[in-house]
Amino acid sequence: MATDVKKLVSEMTLEEKASLCGGDDFWHTKAVERLGIPRFMMSDGPHGLRKQDEEGDHLGVNDSIVAVCFPAACATASSFDTEMIGKMGEAIGDECQAEKLSIVLGPAVNIKRSPLCGRNFEYFSEDPYLAGKMAASYINGVQSKNVGTSIKHFALNNQEYFRMSNNSVASERTIREIYFPAFETAVKESQPWTVMCSYNKINGTYASDNEWLLEKVLREDWGYEGFVMTDWGAVDDRVQGIRAGLELEMPGNTEVNDKKIVEAVKDGSLDEKLVDRACERILRVVYKYYDNKKDNVVFDRDADHEKAVAIAAECGVLLENNGVLPLDASKKIVYIGEYAEAPRYQGGGSSHINASKVTSALDSAKAKGRSVEYVKGFPAQKDEPLDKAELDKALKAAKDADVVVIFAGLPDVIESEGYDRANMNMPEAQNELIKAVAEVNENTVVVLHNGSPVETPWADDVAAILEMYLGGQGVGEATDQLLYGEKNPSGHLAETFPMRVQDNPSYLNFNTDPEICNYAEGVYVGYRYYDKKMMPVRWAFGHGLSYTTFELSNIRVSSDKLTDDTTIKVCVDVKNTGKVTGKEVVQLYVGDLNGTPDRPVKELKGFAKVEVAPGETKTVEMELDARALSYYEESMQDWFAPSGKYELLVGNASDNITLRTEINFETKKVKPMRCDSSLTVGELMANPVTQPIVAEMIEKAQEDSPFGDANEAVGDEMMQAMMRFMPLKSLMSFGMMNEEQMQQLLSAIGAVLGKN
Ligand code: BGC
Repeated sequence: MATDVKKLVSEMTLEEKASLCGGDDFWHTKAVERLGIPRFMMSDGPHGLRKQDEEGDHLGVNDSIVAVCFPAACATASSFDTEMIGKMGEAIGDECQAEKLSIVLGPAVNIKRSPLCGRNFEYFSEDPYLAGKMAASYINGVQSKNVGTSIKHFALNNQEYFRMSNNSVASERTIREIYFPAFETAVKESQPWTVMCSYNKINGTYASDNEWLLEKVLREDWGYEGFVMTDWGAVDDRVQGIRAGLELEMPGNTEVNDKKIVEAVKDGSLDEKLVDRACERILRVVYKYYDNKKDNVVFDRDADHEKAVAIAAECGVLLENNGVLPLDASKKIVYIGEYAEAPRYQGGGSSHINASKVTSALDSAKAKGRSVEYVKGFPAQKDEPLDKAELDKALKAAKDADVVVIFAGLPDVIESEGYDRANMNMPEAQNELIKAVAEVNENTVVVLHNGSPVETPWADDVAAILEMYLGGQGVGEATDQLLYGEKNPSGHLAETFPMRVQDNPSYLNFNTDPEICNYAEGVYVGYRYYDKKMMPVRWAFGHGLSYTTFELSNIRVSSDKLTDDTTIKVCVDVKNTGKVTGKEVVQLYVGDLNGTPDRPVKELKGFAKVEVAPGETKTVEMELDARALSYYEESMQDWFAPSGKYELLVGNASDNITLRTEINFETKKVKPMRCDSSLTVGELMANPVTQPIVAEMIEKAQEDSPFGDANEAVGDEMMQAMMRFMPLKSLMSFGMMNEEQMQQLLSAIGAVLGKN
């Protein structure tokens, strides 16, 4: 039977309640022994457990238990496979049950605003729809095992630079459209047991004090039911936090703040009911875990290692291939680069896992009896000048080989929690070596191990590029399977690779001010910006190749009319036109055709991954609703899409759209219009409600126009443009309307707008 949390809270003293709102130590909540309330333990993740039995820390410094390191979010997002990440969540949920952990601290869903963010490897995507879907599925997977998650870092924490104090300044539209939806989708579709608020301020108020963020948006707008905890050390004003909807302060050392809560209740500045509310929210989660706790779950590290390998293979993105891949094992193959024997498979900081075993591509090749020569070439973990002797060795081996595979990437020191990257470069030694090797062997393949995009000045000189990201402890085996065609690459990029970092929309406002982070690019993040600017990029969002080919055809919609309350289904046929089985990622984007100002060209609103055998055709189905067409209209404090036409664009990459259709949307929502003489003729003509009234008036007014009929100097277009931007008050100045007519017009407009 579920524990009666309300009753428990009613039996607690004020001091006990205040103390429950602060952690006991780095990883535990406090117990209230008098009432038998137990502590519970959480642990970092999210792509494996970082359970610390001994001394706790939040930077991955001290040891944690031996666990299984699954691919990081940069990799899992590229799978575009919600079912797969759900299974990964289930495995982690089981591991938590076995280790008596109630919460795994993740997933981290902050948007990849800049490729330079040091923590990008932990985040899913530059696209909020994809990030939300992957997060919700992961959370449902973990929580199906009766273990909680903590979606983080809520919100607008998209850099490491002064992340603990910086003020993220963004318009509400930008926040609602880009930075919130990953959280919103996860809350609505998976109810994470906890939410972790970020360190930074949002438009001037710390996330941990922010009632708009934690109560209005999270609970009122989205219906959140769990509790909110701080990121480690993110508390600001503890008493305001209780008012704002911040339930738990982490990570311990909270005695001073516990006292402040007690004092505030006693002096009347804090309503005790709000402390009760916080305790109830915390205890509901505590008992959700204890009331459903599972004994006898075993953490089978070997079995989970195999799962980690299989997942990594789903994530690898084949960026380029002139046909050299898959490798022919009978050819003379040389591996160059220390990552071949020591892959970079995870990032640094609080998500760092003490991996049970790590397989390298070289180990896997040996285990499979492949004959591969190996030259170190450059070190995996250092950014130092190219060693001449190593270069000579590499070039000699490359000249003698049929195919060269260079294992390249970013050393740990370049990419970690706690700081951002200074640039998008790979170590110069690696760039030099790749160029030199490609010159002597045209069959040069590059495998990348990195958590975020890099500049690839040699991209046009090599035969193939396989992006493995930080693919977890099984990445070596997965790389082997993909290189030799035992598995067919099916990952697609969850982020754009710009040509150069300077092309990124946040470039002028990234890490420029210790106090303010200005999200000046608004909603134009990632492909939304590159599309709008028609800017060439190295690899576009959604791009990913395969060893087979696919043809998308026959786009059809269940109805070409959509309204506020209906949904439509979009179906597409996927045919495998090649010779091997493979998986295609079908992507559905939506674009506004009504000339609505300031909207991205297209936005991802659906995707489906499907496995198809050679010659076979399968149908995928995706669904759209009004929200998929809408932008956030600040004047309405609501999502809004004007009635009209929208295009549906389908392809296998954001820059490879092969199918297109249109739908009509009809909404009952009316965008409010002011009703005064500053209204322009154009605005009035664009609104179907006011259009008839104004059309008549214009016709009459034009007869009295001082500009006369259109002539050479004042053409029709110019007349129309002038009228379009003409405020009503100016019509009076030009004698096209008198005061009385203006008042009559405003009152007629007011009547149809419901403003009289
Ligand atoms: C990180 C969180 C992490 C916490 C606990 C913080 O520094 O930002 O992501 O969960 O530490 O380790």
